[in-house]
Amino acid sequence: MATKFVYEVEGLSLDNDALVLNETVFHNANGYIGVRSNFEEGYPQGYDSIRGEYINGFYDIAEMKQAEKLFGFVEEKQTMLNVADTQGIYLSADGEEFSMFEGEVLSSRRYLDMEGGYTGREVTWRSPKGREMRITVKRMTSFEKLTLFTIEYTVEALNFEGNVLLTSTHIGDVKNYCNPDDPRVAGESFNHLVPVRAALEGGVSCLVTDTSKSGLTVCTAVKNVLSKEAKEECFVAGHRAVCRLSTYMEKGECITLTKYSVFVDSIRHKDVMEAAKKELEEALERPMSYWYQAQKEYLDKFWNQSSLEIEGDDDLSLAVRYNLYQLVQSVGKDEHCNIAAKGLSGEGYEGHYFWDTEMYMQPFFTLTNPKIAKNLIAYRYSILDAARDNAKILGHKKGALYPWRTIMGKECSGYYPSGTAQYHINGDIAYSVTAYYLATKDLEFIAEKGAEIIFETARLWMDVGHFYKGKFVINAVTGPDEYTCMVNNNYFTNVSAQYNLHWALRFYELLEDAGMLDKVKAKLGLTEEELEGFKKAEECMYLPYDEELGINPQDDSFLSKPVWDIENTPKEDFPLLLHYHPLHLYRYQVCKQADTVLAHFIFEDAQSLETIRKSFEYYEKVTTHDSSLSTCIYSIVASKLGLDDKAYMYFGDSAKLDLFNTHHNTKDGIHTANMGGNYMAIVYGFGGLRLKETGLYFEPSLPKQWTGYKFKIKYEGSQIQVEIDESGSTFRLVKGDARTIFVYGEEYLVEDSVKVPLKRVR
Ligand code: BGC
Repeated sequence: MATKFVYEVEGLSLDNDALVLNETVFHNANGYIGVRSNFEEGYPQGYDSIRGEYINGFYDIAEMKQAEKLFGFVEEKQTMLNVADTQGIYLSADGEEFSMFEGEVLSSRRYLDMEGGYTGREVTWRSPKGREMRITVKRMTSFEKLTLFTIEYTVEALNFEGNVLLTSTHIGDVKNYCNPDDPRVAGESFNHLVPVRAALEGGVSCLVTDTSKSGLTVCTAVKNVLSKEAKEECFVAGHRAVCRLSTYMEKGECITLTKYSVFVDSIRHKDVMEAAKKELEEALERPMSYWYQAQKEYLDKFWNQSSLEIEGDDDLSLAVRYNLYQLVQSVGKDEHCNIAAKGLSGEGYEGHYFWDTEMYMQPFFTLTNPKIAKNLIAYRYSILDAARDNAKILGHKKGALYPWRTIMGKECSGYYPSGTAQYHINGDIAYSVTAYYLATKDLEFIAEKGAEIIFETARLWMDVGHFYKGKFVINAVTGPDEYTCMVNNNYFTNVSAQYNLHWALRFYELLEDAGMLDKVKAKLGLTEEELEGFKKAEECMYLPYDEELGINPQDDSFLSKPVWDIENTPKEDFPLLLHYHPLHLYRYQVCKQADTVLAHFIFEDAQSLETIRKSFEYYEKVTTHDSSLSTCIYSIVASKLGLDDKAYMYFGDSAKLDLFNTHHNTKDGIHTANMGGNYMAIVYGFGGLRLKETGLYFEPSLPKQWTGYKFKIKYEGSQIQVEIDESGSTFRLVKGDARTIFVYGEEYLVEDSVKVPLKRVR
């Protein structure tokens, strides 16, 4: 059966935890704006709600108090803003207000349609006085017009006639959510927005708002259109606009209020109010059917490029589809922004971009939609100067050090041991540039932007590391595992630095051969001598190895620490970061997430299979997977090692993480990296895909829980569909020129289709 496109929940729970969870799960986003799925009419007093609408990359600067003023400590951070509330719609019939918390809910349902690109809420409700009505809400953030968010709010009078009033609000003086007890969201409530202008013209309300410190401006413009003639009364009060629409409804009649909201920011437009009005006019010029059609066409193309289907487990296949949909909702569509750790679904991690992009989300785009991957790299290029400044703050004389977490390039980590010290972000970004090149062979883009990133990050390694007893060592850094900080020679960091240096040398050669080197070489003042240094460091890179255990120690001191007793740690103590002082954790062998095991996936050729197997077994015992970036990687490496049950178990843990709220914090936003990781667990894990300079490799296997699975990828401009079932793996050329691939190490030319028997059915 083909995978469904609709994820739905029948019989809405009004339990507060379920409500805030669904605000995230059913949010609408298009990479530019994101709107949490709040009830238009809100919840009763005393209920928690994270009511928010966000613009990707739109931020203010907030103070970050440091207890001690040491040199270079980050004292200001960029934080994503809740920019306005355009969701409010309040319904009353003859004075009785609609609320799911009063009267009787006769039926209710919420859904996300991933083919149509909209969400919905459907409620049949009986008021305390017995009026029955059906309320149908359809919400969309348009992929065709990124500034546009629409709500279609339909009321059907089932058993009554009378006066109906719809009150639609547009609020500009909103605040961000905060929780002082959770380090993963903002701890303090700041006033970030400064009202500038509120205007009302022809039923269009425009609110212009400045940020308090970052010098940015946003304009939101709203227009309400009712399907039936009504008495309309609109007014502005302070930084708020209200529109009241009243009409008489006959029994059995249906009316629809269409609420158009547009969001325009000063990063992309000079005159935000003019631009917002224009965007709104354009939105109103066409019927809603046009915008729904355009939405569908965008998504048809998206699914056609990137659909991944599992046969034999429909629920799982739907969950995977949900994850991919979240990735396209979250990813920025221009170089002014990226993908936040929570996409545009909530305020967790304050809208910051991390390594999550390059190592977890970008691979999906690199393989299916390289244009988006290119944009993501262009964003990193746009903040390269800020990364150069960051390197200077950290005392480096040359090169660029990307901030661990940021919006527009400034380091925003408050706690440097598990923030700024994660130098591997440089290696991660370099890795993603290389992966883009390997998938596309787009050397022009490398000459234009990619190479500069690679050379500048390579330079940084030369400055942070040094030669010691003939080896190139890198001290006092933090690897991916945030329970082990400030160590010497983190294996992942060193091996990624080695790869970064290798590709600096390789791109130098490739660009030189293609006559494309001069510009970047002159700009950076690259010398042969410097290149020699890269080469020596690459060759002499110290990669810790323990003879006795036959594994790569996570760092120089890791194995000398006592092992944390995970098994006997009370369940309620997880995640450990919320219950133990970091310093306490640092003294134990305990990992929050895949670290060396991640290195064994990404840089698998650096070690023998035997070492990888022993390392996997070793680290598995000391890893809590408190980070959602972990189990997917364990699944991939388990697949590589033929540990089928484990591969499946770890994969299963990651697939429904947000739908089932298994990390208990989905209310703060989706776990976007995990979603990308879940894709990788199938394509890189079960499919065994690897992109290398020598070619495109597959080692397909079929989990015994499935009858088959299929996915499409783009390789050097050609589209290839991969179908795996018990009869074998078929590689079909869908578009473009024939391409060479390797399956279980054998070379094949995919001209039309190639079928290879499965080596391993699990
Ligand atoms: C993880 C990091 C990750 C961050 C944002 C943390 O919990 O340890 O690896 O980058 O979350 O998702």
